[in-house]
Amino acid sequence: MSAERIAVCPGSFDPVTLGHEDIIRRSFRFADRVIVAVAYSATQVKSGMFSVEERVEMIRDTFADEPRVQPMAFQGLLVDFAKSQGATIIVRGLRAVSDFEYEFQMALMNRKLWEAMETVFLAPDLEHSYLSSSLVRQIASLGGDVTPFVSPAVLRRLTERFGAR
Ligand code: PNS
Repeated sequence: MSAERIAVCPGSFDPVTLGHEDIIRRSFRFADRVIVAVAYSATQVKSGMFSVEERVEMIRDTFADEPRVQPMAFQGLLVDFAKSQGATIIVRGLRAVSDFEYEFQMALMNRKLWEAMETVFLAPDLEHSYLSSSLVRQIASLGGDVTPFVSPAVLRRLTERFGAR
């Protein structure tokens, strides 16, 4: 009998996009359960469009079909949260070389903080490699169509916020 492999996929998720969804679903190639961890606190998350509760709800609705996804909010150090949940794997998506420097620094620092903490970088579907929450926020707030970039659950929230096109 082997132990459950628990991964944590941390981020701001303001809001969760199809790019995040793609990375999270790919994680089941090596994880049994994925905690999608929404970081909050004044120092960790740039002041956001959606509240932390709304972000968690949008993740829950997006993955309504996937019981192995567990959305949670966390405060403080990611390694402390991961440890408290029994997760030793961090999953992060790498869209482009420009993401690498920051991600590499965080991966090394997290392992320094807790030697059991390993970071796995996943390449997204090419279709999602240009996608980011900040662009989705900007396009939606300016009346653009974000249907190709977010789940129906997130689209509903954005439409409530900004109205239909
Ligand atoms: O989606 P983002 O904004 O790129 O996610 C960044 C996040 C939340 C993964 C990062 O800021 C983080 O891990 N914050 C928790 C605080 C922490 O542990 N900081 C030390 C990281 S080495």
